[in-house]
Amino acid sequence: MIVSIILAAGEGTRMKSKYSKVTQTLLNRPMISYVLDAAKAIEGSKNVMIVGKNKDVLPEFISDDKLVYIEQKIGPEFPYGTGYAVKLAENEWKDEDDVLILNGDIPLLTGETLKNFVDYHLSSNNTGSIMTAIIDEPSNYGRIVKKENGYIDKIVEHRDCNPDELAIHEINPGIYIFKGSYLSKALKELDTNNDQGELYITDVVSILSNKGEQIGTFPVSDVSEIYGINSKDQLADSEGILRMRVNTFYMKQGVIMEHPFNTFIEPGVKIGRDTRIGSGVKILGDTIIGEDCKIFGDTEIVDSKIGNNVLIRSSFIEKSEISDGVTMGPYAHLRPNSKLLDNVHIGNFVEVKNAVMGKGTKAGHLAYIGDADLGENINIGCGAIFVNYDGINKHRSVAEDGAFIGSNANIVAPVKICKDAFIAAGATVTEDVEEGVLFVSRQTAKKIAGWVKKKRETTKKIKK
Ligand code: UD1
Ligand code: CA
Repeated sequence: MIVSIILAAGEGTRMKSKYSKVTQTLLNRPMISYVLDAAKAIEGSKNVMIVGKNKDVLPEFISDDKLVYIEQKIGPEFPYGTGYAVKLAENEWKDEDDVLILNGDIPLLTGETLKNFVDYHLSSNNTGSIMTAIIDEPSNYGRIVKKENGYIDKIVEHRDCNPDELAIHEINPGIYIFKGSYLSKALKELDTNNDQGELYITDVVSILSNKGEQIGTFPVSDVSEIYGINSKDQLADSEGILRMRVNTFYMKQGVIMEHPFNTFIEPGVKIGRDTRIGSGVKILGDTIIGEDCKIFGDTEIVDSKIGNNVLIRSSFIEKSEISDGVTMGPYAHLRPNSKLLDNVHIGNFVEVKNAVMGKGTKAGHLAYIGDADLGENINIGCGAIFVNYDGINKHRSVAEDGAFIGSNANIVAPVKICKDAFIAAGATVTEDVEEGVLFVSRQTAKKIAGWVKKKRETTKKIKK
């Protein structure tokens, strides 16, 4: 069996954050969830995660009942380091198992590459295998020092390197696999003889190779997969790579992106063919979008379902449903549990919450439609408000097909506006309105002739 140990207990000091490093997000998902997904690509593996001060928050970011958590106590009185972290999981593997060890800060690693690595190891005679990468700027990574026979002699941390070692371009990304029995023995021999005084998992390599054991390398073909994230700038770089990887996938499926580098799509979203997505759009969570849509501006769509041929400009949509042919925005807001049926139009500064708008119903400008059930082909004028809250409770209103809600009307819930009723501009509706009825509520207007002239004369006198 393969037992995977994911290391997630580190302090992540270089991240300069009050939050756990591995919960920092890329495309709206925590770093650690990508690593766990890669580990899960190894079928039948047992997955173990070493957690530290983040032990209480991590399970909120990960939903996996089968994952085994092991706590690493963090503090000056406790040992520290990747080797110590692995040691804490010793009882989770048996001698005959192979133990895969993964740093928790390598979210770009794909399950496919990890699978190939494990296959390489299992079909070799290696006691251990290390995924490596040959990179132009080895910067702070540990260096792979090889023997003449091509197998690894040792891994040296950047800070412990001599000038010859610093010149090596083959680096250690933090992805290892060892035969269980050999790993158990080598862990007993780890020491803190290094610049940081920590127990290093990388020292397992020299311990084994000094005994004549064979430790092989598996150089990765796409080096971007192994980028480790230690700081916020590396987080942004890695997110950029992931964004292009994800967006390329969607474009290959037939989605049009005007500026893919600046389009933010969470992996797992579904988007239909020939839908065009402009610069700055964010599509997140459990979202499905149909074909031939046009989505532009700083639109953000979260956990929503969108039909075909929908046009959205600079709008925010949360947990809602939009049917075919809807046009929306700029600056419209669909709050949770809203449903726009076919060909609905909502325009500038229209907010809809927990409401249904029937086919062809329109609200062009500056309206609030909260807790309402609207039928088909209703016209909602500028400034109309569905007054749903009395300070204690929320109430629902109904408007039936063909109703006309004039500008600046207040529909005070709960009321029912029947079919084809006509609410005059400025009306405050506090009772039901029957079919075909005109509802007006206005003060009688007055006109006072000569009033302005008189007013100006008195003002002049006062000023003198
Ligand atoms: C480690 C490797 C280095 C490699 C680099 C790749 C060691 C000694 N060095 O260095 O050779 O090039 O990764 O990114 O392993 N962690 C724990 N408990 C601890 C310490 C760390 O769980 O006590 C976890 C961290 O949360 C992190 C991972 O182990 O996910 C790696 O730790 P980090 O401090 O980032 O190691 P590097 O210094 O980057
Ligand atoms: Ca690291």
